[in-house]
Amino acid sequence: MTDILLDVDTGVDDALAVLFAVRHPGLTLRGVSCVAGNTDVDQVVRNTLKVLDAAGAGAVPVARGASRPLLEPHRDAVHVHGRDGMADLGLPASVREPAPEHAIELLRRLILTNPTPVTLISLAPMTNLALLLRAYPEVTTKLARIMVMGGSASVGNASAVAEFNVWHDPEAAAIVFGCDAPVTMYGLDVFYGATASPAQTAELAASTDPGAAMAGRLLHHAARISGDDHRIGQPGGAHLGDAGAVCAVAEPAGLRTRRLPLQVELASGLARGQTIVDRRSLAGDAEYHGSALLAERVEVALEIDGDRYGRLFTEVLLGRVGAA
Ligand code: BDR
Ligand code: CA
Repeated sequence: MTDILLDVDTGVDDALAVLFAVRHPGLTLRGVSCVAGNTDVDQVVRNTLKVLDAAGAGAVPVARGASRPLLEPHRDAVHVHGRDGMADLGLPASVREPAPEHAIELLRRLILTNPTPVTLISLAPMTNLALLLRAYPEVTTKLARIMVMGGSASVGNASAVAEFNVWHDPEAAAIVFGCDAPVTMYGLDVFYGATASPAQTAELAASTDPGAAMAGRLLHHAARISGDDHRIGQPGGAHLGDAGAVCAVAEPAGLRTRRLPLQVELASGLARGQTIVDRRSLAGDAEYHGSALLAERVEVALEIDGDRYGRLFTEVLLGRVGAA
């Protein structure tokens, strides 16, 4: 069993990630923290509670966190995720209540009291994580790993070079990538590769199980929004987005990573929020021309078996994957 915590800005693909995390028999979802990103933080909390309902989750605590980035105002992504941030599915309100404490208090408590080290999966702007790491740096000693969906070693999406979660709060991302815990960057280089086929999406949508049906409807939305985006792993497919990062925690063998120097660009201007990854291979270049600024070493995901994760996601949501 792998104990996990999710930090989310639910979000179509965050919702897929929550559904998968609840349903995968090898993962135990200990709690969820919410942050402003795809939509405002109160809407993120409401969306997350609805997803837990559909998943049939037990009493998973959900806490509200930061309502804006460390320095800048909040900037949403409703053009991708819909007016309610979750594809405007018209779902009924949840009767679940959020936890009374702030997200960083919930994360601290759950990390420090868990009997085994926890994997913290960040699927959103990293404001909550940065606040947690600055307020309670001791948490890193009890973290197995931080899996970050964010960043890119190639092109961006929010800007030509910056990925949305890092672009939204670059200072927070710099704090997370520079922390003492082992960090894996599941960035845009692999993000669009994990896909569900049209047939898998249709099978999920037709299910009588509320969690599987919700996943199918969300994947339909993802396929419609992405259209013929060349980054999507297969024609007509829907990318799993954030859920791919949770698949990679459940089955790490589908991801190839390399430990590389990485730095977040914090200067204002066109490149703000870019994750600069030093992939130079010519021996001597780094030493001769200098690499002193590229100090943080992060496991950067460079290749993904996207079909494997598409299958895994579908089988888990349809209840066809048993406990090991
Ligand atoms: C990331 O940005 C958000 O819109 C998605 O939920 C995902 O976490 C992709 O850049
Ligand atoms: Ca997200």
